Amino acid sequence: MIFDISYFQKLTKSYRFPSKVIALESTPSTNQWLKECDEECFEHGILVIADHQTKGRGQYRRTWVSGPGVNITCSLGLIPHRNRNIHTLIHLTGLSIAMAIQENYPTVSVQLKWPNDILFNGKKAGGVLTETVFQGNKVRRVILGFGLNINLRVMPKELERTATSLLLESGRATSREEVLSTILSNFNKYYHSWERDIYEWKHLYNEFLLGMNKRCRCVLTTQKGESSSVIGMCKGLQSDGMLLIEDEDGEKKRFSHEQIRIYPLE
Ligand code: BTN
Repeated sequence: MIFDISYFQKLTKSYRFPSKVIALESTPSTNQWLKECDEECFEHGILVIADHQTKGRGQYRRTWVSGPGVNITCSLGLIPHRNRNIHTLIHLTGLSIAMAIQENYPTVSVQLKWPNDILFNGKKAGGVLTETVFQGNKVRRVILGFGLNINLRVMPKELERTATSLLLESGRATSREEVLSTILSNFNKYYHSWERDIYEWKHLYNEFLLGMNKRCRCVLTTQKGESSSVIGMCKGLQSDGMLLIEDEDGEKKRFSHEQIRIYPLE
């Protein structure tokens, strides 16, 4: 089914974001679209949504494959008023998604796997990819792209054990327009705090965080791609966007979202 743009606009008409919506039948990647669109087109709060992405991208240079017409694949473009703590916006986006699902689908257990995989009942249903465009040292564009499996009925065999959709977990088909408008309603609320340097929402994020207050194996990857691992207690997202891990000697260590993957041991 084609995304119903006029219904979506009706649902979001009182919102600050999206300030403008571009609905595309097909595009390689909505993140790429926002990276490349010209200055007159890009504005704070622009949302690009595609019914089909042909070259969707994920974190760690992976691809993001999503069937046409059934899922959400979109990107929100922002021009934040400051550079500081831009990287916390990835968590704010994940939280907005998690909250939207938890509020409306109480039978689905939603978790966030650091930094931002969206899990439904323990299986991956979505993810967030943020990209930043700089001009000199000033942030010109922040692109918050996310994909969420909504009405996908059949998972490819090789993904059945690890991936899922909202339909498969809740047992009912859902309006993509309504889910996306709820996500954005949450985003508007949390962004308002973010702009004022208020990070109370990090407690909410930590409630969804897989491994929170548990012993975890933490896999660290350097920029050169070398990895090592450490065992420690996961103490959650901090106000500066770092993940706090207390190792087995009680030493506190902070990691950015690109540096670490965590795997709960209990
Ligand atoms: C991940 O889990 O690795 C992140 C997946 C992010 C996918 C979304 S779909 C919309 C936007 N455009 C892209 O090319 N990627 C993001």
